Amino acid sequence: MMKMTRLIITSAIAMSAPSFSYPGMAKSESGKTHNAPPATSSMMPQAESADSSIDQMIPRLIVEGESNLPVVDMGPLRKNESSENPLGSNFNYAQAFAKLDFEQVKADMKAVLTDSKEFWPADYGHYGPLFIRLSWHSAGTYRAIDGRGGSDGGQMRFYPLAQWPDNANLDKARLLIQPVVDKYYPNLSWADAMVLAGDIAMRDMGFETLGVAGGRIDDWAPDMVYWGPEDEFLKSERFDENGNLMLPLAASVMGLIYVNPEGPDGKPDPLLSAERIRTTFGRMGMNDEETVALIAGGHTFGKTHGAPRPKECPDPKANCPAAKGPKTNTSGIEGPWTPKPIEWTHEYLTNLFKYDWKLTKGPG
Ligand code: HEM
Repeated sequence: MMKMTRLIITSAIAMSAPSFSYPGMAKSESGKTHNAPPATSSMMPQAESADSSIDQMIPRLIVEGESNLPVVDMGPLRKNESSENPLGSNFNYAQAFAKLDFEQVKADMKAVLTDSKEFWPADYGHYGPLFIRLSWHSAGTYRAIDGRGGSDGGQMRFYPLAQWPDNANLDKARLLIQPVVDKYYPNLSWADAMVLAGDIAMRDMGFETLGVAGGRIDDWAPDMVYWGPEDEFLKSERFDENGNLMLPLAASVMGLIYVNPEGPDGKPDPLLSAERIRTTFGRMGMNDEETVALIAGGHTFGKTHGAPRPKECPDPKANCPAAKGPKTNTSGIEGPWTPKPIEWTHEYLTNLFKYDWKLTKGPG
């Protein structure tokens, strides 16, 4: 995380928000159920619980990362209503989308796929796989239980989702499609553009999709969803002693869309992984068949990125412009899923079943 000098302000209302619990919610050491955090993101430093209720009524200031003072959340002061919409409260995204020359929009998006840019060179000369990952990650936060997350709203543009480790380097994907959004905005929302990019990518690489709908809205501010109890990315404290995932969460790790690719808590156990995948994808509203189709289908395309950090930039926390192309490190895992990464094939499944797989440590 960058050096924080940003002021975060929280209010007494947020700090004294009533606690609530869900069946299956994990217990803390004190035996109390975890409270869902108030309007703030759980990734922001939270207020120490104050003993006196008067203390809780006093708004405070902190400088994030430089102080342990309580957080002051401005959320309750924000009017989260359509009158705040910069496009006006009567703006209708579906009607605006219907006015687009959609064939032209699709042609423009398709042209981006093979127009490799110096700032982020395309693997195999095609941005398709990156755009599929963009689409999937915009959708994959959805949870059926409370309807939060998902593509609608285009939330990946905002904190905290923009900073999630699982969304690493998807800022580049958004930059690449930005000229198309700029050309058609607001008829084409960011939320629609991120979904459309994946659809066009799949078609261009040989897969016939069912089609894509439009009219998703763009939120104009971060939606402060409860993403979990952990205060650090990649932590997972959301399973109870019986292995039940705390409701209403769907993802198993803070900052990942669904599961840890290295296995539950980094343990490479295929059966435990399958169980976690069934739980997390089930919470997104998918059955086993749909889950397999999505994961195997998605991983027909593209590659993982785990190149060693370039010598030019030894600090792993610093932004490193040289870490691109063959030097990209996104997940830390390295290698293509199939021998034909920009072609629709059945090779992912063929490879999976044809060979015995050995666990190895990659260069990243
Ligand atoms: C259990 C579920 C899944 C896990 C653990 C997982 C994990 C990963 C990982 C670790 C990468 C490498 C990222 C990088 O280093 O660049 C990746 C890439 C990718 N994933 Fe998944 N994924 C899952 C599900 C899906 C689904 C459902 C889709 C699409 C429907 C998908 C599409 C892709 C694509 C296209 C890439 C390649 C991106 C590129 O070439 O830049 N994944 N996935």
